[in-house]
Amino acid sequence: MTPHKIGTRITDLFGIDHPLVCGGMMWLADADYVSAVARAGCIGFITPRSFPTPEDFREQVRKAHDLSDGKPFGVNLYISARPEANQQLQTFLDISIEEDVKFVETAGFSPKAFMPKIKDAGITVMHKCTTLRHATSAQNAGVDAIAILGAEAGGHPGMDMIGTMVQGAIVPRELDVPVVLAGGMGTGRQLMACLSLGADGMILATRMLVSEEIWAHVDYKKRLAELGPDGTKIIMSIFGDNSRVIDNDSTAAVLALEAEGVTDYEAYRPHVQGTLQKEAYEDGDWNKGTMSIGQSVAFAHGIEPAESIIDGIMAEAVAVREKLNGL
Ligand SMILES: Cc1cc2nc3c(=O)[nH]c(=O)nc-3n(C[C@H](O)[C@H](O)[C@H](O)COP(=O)(O)O)c2cc1C
Repeated sequence: MTPHKIGTRITDLFGIDHPLVCGGMMWLADADYVSAVARAGCIGFITPRSFPTPEDFREQVRKAHDLSDGKPFGVNLYISARPEANQQLQTFLDISIEEDVKFVETAGFSPKAFMPKIKDAGITVMHKCTTLRHATSAQNAGVDAIAILGAEAGGHPGMDMIGTMVQGAIVPRELDVPVVLAGGMGTGRQLMACLSLGADGMILATRMLVSEEIWAHVDYKKRLAELGPDGTKIIMSIFGDNSRVIDNDSTAAVLALEAEGVTDYEAYRPHVQGTLQKEAYEDGDWNKGTMSIGQSVAFAHGIEPAESIIDGIMAEAVAVREKLNGL
């Protein structure tokens, strides 16, 4: 592991070596991945819905404990606007508590309803959101840290589409809890920019997709390595649910429906359903499925172990710190 260490409130909160937090990734953030990230000195979050049953999720948590050398890892809880969709989350939270998970990343809608159980269990929680308003209300609900997403992010960057640089200049200054910046991150230069803005760290997701420990097909990773910052598109704006995804045939089909003004979700389902994304990860046919990726795909230039990605980012950050010291 790199000897370079930068300590912030986030490294203290999570008990990690580097101020780098690897966001949950549906279908992909399993025990092998989060434990690789943990051993590299960062924290990652298992996505429970990625597994066929809650018991399979439990197995992943147990495996992550086995593989993480005692280093911290967490679980991602993506909260839906529909209460009925959140029933399963209670099961995932119960399993996390039973299996001695100490860290949770919540995202999507407000974590307020889950806070009593999370806090009673002594779990540290970071909530990920896209506006200062939601960040403030999550802080008031008792979360321990905020991840604020900018427009460049893969997945759900929100409807306001405020750039990460602007989020970074505003949100950390307005909150008391530690803040990590997310969206378009992938370099040590950006880590130092985050810290300069007053954040305590940054989130990596898209940058980590080309990790050797991510189980997706090598052809998919090779495609990511070819893409530049223009390799993504925003889809599903028509439903008020911006989603930043890979620019491919499925995405083009969705954009064509949006351009026609089609509002029947069933017309979109064949292109956007999660099982198609999973299939693409399995067989490497990157042209099908609306897989989440962000503009930081530009930094994912080759397949390498998670630890070497992290080490490269930290070495660059430390070099930047020395350069700035000399100004
Ligand atoms: C493939 C992929 C899957 C994702 N799945 C989830 C998820 O299940 N839950 C979640 O909270 N965020 C999810 N995200 C969002 C990331 O955790 C992170 O917030 C975001 O991607 C950060 O921006 P970046 O892509 O620029 O690194 C996903 C992102 C990607 C790239």
